[in-house]
Amino acid sequence: MNHFTQFESKELGQELLDLAAAYKANPSLHARKGEGKRIGCIFLNPSLRTRVSTQIAAQQLGMEAIVLNMDKEGWALEMQEGAIMNKGTVEHIKDAAGVLGSYFDILALRAFPSLTQKEEDVTDFVLHQFIKYSGIPVVSLESAIRHPLQSLADQLTIQELSKGDKKPKVVLTWAPHIKAIPHAVANSFAEWTLGMGHDLTICHPEGYELDSEFTHGARITNDQSEALQNADFVYVKNWSAFNEYGKILSTDERWMLTEAHLKNAPEAKVMHCLPVRRNVELSDEILDCPRSLVQQQAYNRIFAAQAVLSKLLG
Ligand code: CP
Repeated sequence: MNHFTQFESKELGQELLDLAAAYKANPSLHARKGEGKRIGCIFLNPSLRTRVSTQIAAQQLGMEAIVLNMDKEGWALEMQEGAIMNKGTVEHIKDAAGVLGSYFDILALRAFPSLTQKEEDVTDFVLHQFIKYSGIPVVSLESAIRHPLQSLADQLTIQELSKGDKKPKVVLTWAPHIKAIPHAVANSFAEWTLGMGHDLTICHPEGYELDSEFTHGARITNDQSEALQNADFVYVKNWSAFNEYGKILSTDERWMLTEAHLKNAPEAKVMHCLPVRRNVELSDEILDCPRSLVQQQAYNRIFAAQAVLSKLLG
């Protein structure tokens, strides 16, 4: 594994899950593995969980983590090749990433999509510019199209709650939101859930089809009630339209998950990556009841990150 930016294989996924479970059982299992190494965590966008869990994970391996909130504290970056930099951007990615690559052993990057430049977003242009010019291993802390550390933590949570040999029914359901939200969490959840061999049903209103690159093999429906029947895990997430790129086509509050939606899914556990808009995406009654796995998912972010950093350290 040279970088950690997406799902690669079921074998590697299971290896990372086993390692994450081992770190959860004993966080100081390899407390000196990263001694003398530094990770640079570069944020072009806000974060709570990703920022703190990655720092804790690095600490638990003996690594030093340095966080740079590039959006607020760094120079405005120019990403385009051959740009004449006579406008707002101050530093070219070639120069900035080259410097960061010489300061750190691992670089971690959060870079959300524009949701306006579809062609650029779907190629994960900004992430790949950092990979290209830093010359060191890169970990995605959520890119334009994927959030693999979140997905690894989500798969760990599903593994912990799965019962015996029964294949769980996993449902990804769209939820309303007041803002245009990226596709990264939904894409990655589908990519990892299908990649790890689970059955996945995706439900959303018409017009909210995700990029088929991530959903091949899933059952896709516009009927939320039918999708939720006998579900074991229900992942709730908003995303903006992909075909009509970045648009909000619906705010239909009937799609907000409440206890009433789960009347035919008595065993269902409910997941969300957080942050969540309470009583818009998910009701208080769900978030505050034993069905909710959101705190467990967030806690597992530490061990998912620790497994990934450990694997990259070799
Ligand atoms: N789930 C998640 O990535 O949370 P943050 O945006 O707070 O890091």
